[in-house]
Amino acid sequence: MPAIVLLGAQWGDEGKGKATDLLAERIDYCVRFNGGNNAGHTIVIDGETYAMHLLPSGVLTPGVVPVIGNGVVIDLGVLFDEIDLLTARGIDTSRLVVSANAHVITAYHRVIDKVTERFLGKARIGTTGRGIGPAYADKMSRVGVRVQDLFDEKILRQKIEGALDQKNQLLVKVYNRRAIDPTAVADELLGYADRLRPMVADTAALLNDALDHHKTVLLEAGQGTLLDVDHGTYPFVTSSNATAGGACTGSGIGPTRIDRVIAVAKAYTTRVGSGPFPTELHDGDGEKLRRIGAEFGVTTGRPRRCGWYDAVAVRYAMRINGVTDVVLTKLDVLSHFERIPVCVAYRLPDGRTVEEMPMTQTELHHVEPVYEELPGWQEDLSAARSLEDLPKNAQRYVEFLQELAGVPFSVIGVGPGRDQTIQLKALV
Ligand code: IMP
Repeated sequence: MPAIVLLGAQWGDEGKGKATDLLAERIDYCVRFNGGNNAGHTIVIDGETYAMHLLPSGVLTPGVVPVIGNGVVIDLGVLFDEIDLLTARGIDTSRLVVSANAHVITAYHRVIDKVTERFLGKARIGTTGRGIGPAYADKMSRVGVRVQDLFDEKILRQKIEGALDQKNQLLVKVYNRRAIDPTAVADELLGYADRLRPMVADTAALLNDALDHHKTVLLEAGQGTLLDVDHGTYPFVTSSNATAGGACTGSGIGPTRIDRVIAVAKAYTTRVGSGPFPTELHDGDGEKLRRIGAEFGVTTGRPRRCGWYDAVAVRYAMRINGVTDVVLTKLDVLSHFERIPVCVAYRLPDGRTVEEMPMTQTELHHVEPVYEELPGWQEDLSAARSLEDLPKNAQRYVEFLQELAGVPFSVIGVGPGRDQTIQLKALV
């Protein structure tokens, strides 16, 4: 049976949690493969809202095995807080499996994330401050701490001392901060070891075995394509691969086992943090999208930057990920606009018009969106359950976006609830 990838086609916050929830009853495993508690998934079930950062959304569905893959960076304090919060609300989290190879976010990663952002001043990335970038930097520099290190105290202490040797020099001499005590960091991590041990496994072996036994595995990305460290708007990106390729490296599942790549795209665009955003609105319409769409970060509470739908960015995401299906979310938010512009191309500073992402960052920073304006519908969509239930102009809007993406739309979201969806094609 298949492995399915589910990812974001924009700058994150596309509503991936809702899409996972729609699939949840037909999947056996739900795997996070990248990022950490920088993500924020909001899921509404029976009127109850769940906001999760680190746990895969599948944890909410009885019978689904939630897995934190090797590509994730884990803040153990956050992990156990999330488990405790869900347990207190009656959710069974006992099936959770954590990769022995996943990296651990330590206190020094969080400190370094914050001080480097402060040091960058106006050039800051606008990170979530959760230590994500520094933890991945250590992974690549081969001085990271992995989950399995917690079960070998001697190795753990050695690794932390080694990592802090250099970092403390930097903290004290460059950033004018206090040095971090390696013993305190190791003691904190060791404090989690006993509780963590029963959850830890070779998740790549587990998932491949599940596929051999005809189980359905959903690989769920954090963030979005344009925040991917290789294919996003670098350097204003996160430090992991949020694209389809990352699903393989971050889980240990080979590409030939993946037979569907589902991209979630919002009917307009949002972005948190710094970086280019061609269709960003600085006017009343932007404010209106933010208010009606409740566009505030689940993780940091920051107001999201809002703008019209950018078909150039979404088409780029279709290509980078080899997308087979699109889930369009929050169409209902656009019900309050008389006219709805859609960005169909970019105009470069030299006057040329392009329909693809420009090759260089300099160009992307200076593009102007070329809009085609569609008439709005100004009717409530929340009860629509088929394309025909939508007002004609909403149908036109969806068809236009689909044509621009060049990939079939399978689901359209018309409200936050699980049932407020139009299913055009089965996702599994
Ligand atoms: P970091 O992932 O905390 O290093 O932040 C890097 C960039 O990615 C910042 O612009 C963040 O706002 C953005 N980012 C990280 N995670 C998410 C997410 O889940 N949704 C939207 N933006 C995110």
